[in-house]
Order: sequence, then structure tokens, then C-alpha cells
Amino acid sequence: MPAGIVVGAQWGDEGKGKIIDILASQAEVVVRSQGGNNAGHTVEVNGEVYKLRLIPSGILYAGTLCCIGCGVVVDPKVLLGEIDSLQARGIDCKNLRIDPRAHVIMPWHPALDGMKEKALGDQNIGTTHSGIGPCYMDKDERTGLRMYDLCHPDIFREKARRAGEAKNALIEKIYGEAPLDLDSIIEEYIAYGERIRPMLADVSVLVYDALKQDKRVLFEGAQGTLLDIDIGTYPFVTSSHPISGGACIGTGIGPTAIDKVTGVAKAYTTRVGSGPFPTELFDEMGDRIREAGHEFGTVTGRSRRVGWLDTVILRHAVRTNGLTGLCINKLDILAGLGTLRVCTAYRHKDGHLVEEFPPALEELALCEPIYEDLPGFDEDITGCRSFEDLPENCQRYIERIEALTGCPVTMVGVGPARDQMFDR
Ligand code: GDP
Ligand code: IMO
Ligand code: MG
Repeated sequence: MPAGIVVGAQWGDEGKGKIIDILASQAEVVVRSQGGNNAGHTVEVNGEVYKLRLIPSGILYAGTLCCIGCGVVVDPKVLLGEIDSLQARGIDCKNLRIDPRAHVIMPWHPALDGMKEKALGDQNIGTTHSGIGPCYMDKDERTGLRMYDLCHPDIFREKARRAGEAKNALIEKIYGEAPLDLDSIIEEYIAYGERIRPMLADVSVLVYDALKQDKRVLFEGAQGTLLDIDIGTYPFVTSSHPISGGACIGTGIGPTAIDKVTGVAKAYTTRVGSGPFPTELFDEMGDRIREAGHEFGTVTGRSRRVGWLDTVILRHAVRTNGLTGLCINKLDILAGLGTLRVCTAYRHKDGHLVEEFPPALEELALCEPIYEDLPGFDEDITGCRSFEDLPENCQRYIERIEALTGCPVTMVGVGPARDQMFDR
């Protein structure tokens, strides 16, 4: 049963899209199983840059079956826009399949996302305003609309009106905003459903059959471990399960199918949105890394918060995802920075050593990172194509990550292109 999962080991934007694109050359099926268009996955091929939000990064290979599983929340307007823009660039989307069970992001979801964030004021989560949280709320409340409904006009008309009326009451009475025009929304979305209907397929069955035929299946994680609704920095998280277990639930396959789980991390740490970030840099070093790494959001263009590598977080990712290997991206960005700092553990205010990521933010707030200083490197490593090509200090940096996380570093990224990556 040859299935591999790629997950983000930090707070998202670790370069998962690039890794999926590289690994997809060896896979027949690529599956997205959670999140929605809050994701922004950048893939660079022959100087062309693709920014994918909902469609699996395997779409750039003509023969790869790309699936959106039951655990994803799909904004049909964004999906069709993405298909159109890929097709305009010569990328065929005929191999895209969507599970009828996946929930639909309706216009009231982004609207409510924005209203909730505004009401939270300076306590806001800093969401992508894509309607992710409100859509998953409806799913868990068992009042959501699914892709099957969207593609069956009679069912959709009735369910969408009932749901929309309830949301309009909330929008008017709680948030004091103007209600949405349900008639025009329903007609607009029925038209989207018409276009999407031929893409509906039971992804659980497709993936199971592929596995039985010994085809290689890859699960493309979105977001990152620390954004997981349970295992992340709650409430500053997303509303799904970006950890590896989420791939099984959000596709409808069992964990026995998985033989490989790769955690993707940057050689430093970034985060967009609010919430704790123990190794965050507020000084000139932070600005230098942000500029060198072009750390500005793929989806919202927001400036990403930047800090040193935190191996407490990586150990948390190794444990909660069952990582079989780590991929360290953006090592090239650390060139010329002088001494490199790596957080090895936290020191609690009461003096004790904290080696595992604390479950509550109140505890985390009492922790200070403990750093180990490692010698930096000045060489441009973007042309390196093997571990042995790397300068000695770079090799030591990678080996130290392995020792501190107890997980082998199996891939190293030295640039955004397909070939700027090597196995170890
Ligand atoms: P994802 O959401 O995990 O797929 O990551 P994003 O695409 O949001 O952000 C990662 C960014 O880093 C993208 O702009 C990539 O092109 C870029 N990138 C990925 N790996 C490397 C690398 O090894 N070196 C450099 N310099 N850039 C990289
Ligand atoms: P990829 O797949 C980085 C963050 C948002 C916010 C929090 C909740 O590109 O790595 P949401 O809109 O999901 O309710 O926002 O989660 N967030 C991400 N940060 N990369 C992502 O995806 C993210 N998806 C959501 O910034 O802090
Ligand atoms: Mg991203």
C-alpha cells in the first residue's frame, strides 16, 4: 500500500507545494484532504510560477489524477477561477475529481469570517477571511451544504435557502450588517454546480482502488502542524486537521495505507496571522530573513512573522505526525547571516526545562526559548545538488536538526525550483 503524506511541520508555508510537485513525478494520484483556499502553494517550473489554493499541486503533470477529498471545504467560485486560470496557461484540469461529501463555502462564510474577526478586535485570529472556520462550523453543526447538494439544483435551492435565511438573521441581528441577496446567490451557485458536476467522484473509492493496484498515492497537506485545531496553538489555528491523521479522515482511507510521512519545515520559522511564536525576531535580523526569504503571504500578501528555527516545535511535529523524514527548505536563505541560532528547548519562568511543546498558551507564555549558536555560512548554496556539495557548516546545521529532533532529514531545499532540491 504505497501512500505518502506530506505535512507542514510549522505554521504553514514551509514549501509543501514544491515538495509535492517534485514527489508527484513518481505518483499516480495526488490528494488534498483538508483545509480550503486558505492554502497557497507555490510551484516553480521552468521559471513559471503557479500559486495553487485548492487544486492539488500534482495538476502540473498531465497524467496525474488529482483529488479533492471529503475533508476539504470548497469555494466553488475560487475553484472554477483556479481551473480557468490554469487552463489559460495550458494546464489541463480534466483529471480533477471532487468528493461529493466535501462541504461548500457559501458567500455567507467569508462574510461571517470577516465579521467575527472584526468583532474580536485586537484578539482576532488573523484568518485568511476565506470562510474556512464558519464553513467547518456548519459542517460540525450538521447544517452545511455539500458538493453533492451544489450539483443537484432542486436539493440545493431548498437547503441553500434554509441555510442562507439562518445566516442572514445572524448577519442582521448579531452583526448589524445588510443581509445577503439569497435569490441571486442561489442562481449563481447553481450555475457553478453545473460546471462542477462532471468532476464529482467518490474519492475514497478512487484512492482505495489506486492503492489496490499498487499505484503511488500522495497526500498534499495544507497549513501546518501548529495550525491544527487540536494539536496546534489553539485558538490561533485553522479549523481542520493539517496533521497526518487528517489525511485519512479527510479522504476516507485507513491509516494502514500509509508508509511514509514527510514533514516539511523551513530552515528558520515563519507564521502569518496572530498567536504565539516563541522564537520570533523583532530586530534587524528578522527583517533580513524576511527580505531574503520573500516572506510575504501567497494568499493575502501579508508580511510573514519570522524567527529562528525552533526544534521544540519540530519534535512536536515528529511525534504528532509520526514523521518518517523531514524536508528542510530554504536553507539558502540563511547564507551570510553570521551565527545561526537554533532553539533546543524552553525555560519555564519557574526555572524548569520544557522540552515538549506546551498544550496551553498560558503555559507557553511563561516559556523563554533556549538557544544553541551554530556557525553560519557565506557561500551561495543554490547550485548545490547533494549533501556533500554543501559547505561544512551547512552540513553541521542539518545534522544538528536531526540530532535535536530524532528524525532523519531526507530532503534539503536550496531554492524554489524543481531541481533546487536533493535527497539525502
Ligand atoms: P506552502 O504553502 O507550504 O506550499 O509554501 P508557500 O508556497 O506558501 O511558501 C513557500 C515559498 O518558499 C514559496 O514562495 C516557494 O517558492 C519558496 N521556496 C520553497 N522552497 C524553497 C527553497 O528551498 N529556497 C527558496 N529560496 N525558496 C523556496
Ligand atoms: P498553506 O497551505 C500559513 C493561518 C491564517 C491564520 C489561521 C486561521 O499555504 O501552508 P483560516 O483562514 O484558516 O481560518 O486562518 O491559519 N493559515 C495559514 N498560514 N499557511 C497556510 O496554508 C495557512 N492557512 C491558514 O493566517 O493565522
Ligand atoms: Mg502557503
